[in-house]
Amino acid sequence: MIAKLPALGIVISGRGSNMAAIVRAAQCGALPARIAVVIADRAAAGLELAQALGITTETIPAREFADRTAFDAALAAALDQHGADFIALAGFMRILGAVFVGRYRGRLINIHPSLLPQHKGLHTHAQVLAAGDASHGASVHFVTPDLDGGPVIAQASLQVQPADTASSLSARVQQLEHMLYPKVCGWVASGRVQLDGDRVLFDGLPLDQPLIDSITPRTRHAGGAVC
Ligand code: GRF
Repeated sequence: MIAKLPALGIVISGRGSNMAAIVRAAQCGALPARIAVVIADRAAAGLELAQALGITTETIPAREFADRTAFDAALAAALDQHGADFIALAGFMRILGAVFVGRYRGRLINIHPSLLPQHKGLHTHAQVLAAGDASHGASVHFVTPDLDGGPVIAQASLQVQPADTASSLSARVQQLEHMLYPKVCGWVASGRVQLDGDRVLFDGLPLDQPLIDSITPRTRHAGGAVC
């Protein structure tokens, strides 16, 4: 009997390049999950991209809801209706409340464009330049009520170059993200990565630091695709 693949719901607000990388990884078999739905909280450009990839989409316009609790409840209802077993936030620009986060604890992950715990919040590339950091990158973490503060699963990093600007860093970090995020989604889908209290388990053993993705220029594929 063929085991049923876990269903992944992806939640976006913007252009959806990480979403597309995850979808493509699932479609080529590199990520052992099926994409149940892509949901946006606004008229995000990524919705058309998802549809072009053959994925069911929904828009839940946040501004039409009285408050965060009401929006969060609608988002949870849609994710459950589409049977999402786990959820990837991919450029989702809203803060989710503690009830939502608690409901999906251990099944809700996010990608953040910095080497957490450094540079939480917005404008991370400018933060890196202002701090004079030698390295930068992206982190995938379990979502907890602590914004950008949940246990980090894995990171991919790069060296900041003298000529780098916020925009060049953004482009370079995104290349890393498009390889890192599908990979981590695969680990969560297969159960290799789990949240145990405040610890991340990998193959049943606690991580004392995030996994460092061994992405090097030599192993990169054109366009950052994983397959
Ligand atoms: C990514 O850089 C991600 O780290 C951050 O938002 C950006 C989303 O980009 N959370 P995209 O919509 O996936 O292209």
